Amino acid sequence: MAKALVCYYSRTGNTKKMAVKIADVLKAEGLEVDLKDVENTAVDDLLRYDCLVFGSPTYYGSMAWPLKKLLDESVKFHGKLRGKVGGAFSSSANVGGGNETTILDILKALLIHGMVVQGDYRGDHYGPVSIGRPDKRALNCCESYAKNVAALAKYLFP
Ligand SMILES: Cc1cc2nc3c(=O)[nH]c(=O)nc-3n(C[C@H](O)[C@H](O)[C@H](O)COP(=O)(O)O)c2cc1C
Repeated sequence: MAKALVCYYSRTGNTKKMAVKIADVLKAEGLEVDLKDVENTAVDDLLRYDCLVFGSPTYYGSMAWPLKKLLDESVKFHGKLRGKVGGAFSSSANVGGGNETTILDILKALLIHGMVVQGDYRGDHYGPVSIGRPDKRALNCCESYAKNVAALAKYLFP
């Protein structure tokens, strides 16, 4: 069974709500899932999963520093995360407030690790986004995103 980590930073709960939804759907799709606050995630934990999905609020158009810190620490395992499934999501205050650049910044790190990332041709293309508290649209995007991630993880890690 593929093992997934949904790791998030959230100060006011919006990104956490997205993380909970994504973790619930990954579980419903048959993955073994851990949901962790980034501040309770050790870099060594990353090795234990086949699939790593990271969420952050948008801070000045990029990820919040606790997630950046974890990703910078992951250099310890450069080359060892290759082939794992990766993903990212973000909450921002504004439309056009930088949620997509936040996701792409996270995905760049995952791609540099050699991880496998799936886009979405219909919904939020790079990963789910929310404007403030996740509404029905954002939660639906989290659901369809998690289904796609689960399908890829199950294909690569049967
Ligand atoms: C330091 C800081 C920087 C922020 N920068 C942005 C920004 O560049 N664009 C934006 O739309 N929202 C920005 N916000 C708002 C947050 O992204 C937004 O409130 C988000 O929903 C918070 O997520 P959380 O509830 O998971 O903490 C910023 C908030 C803080 C505290």
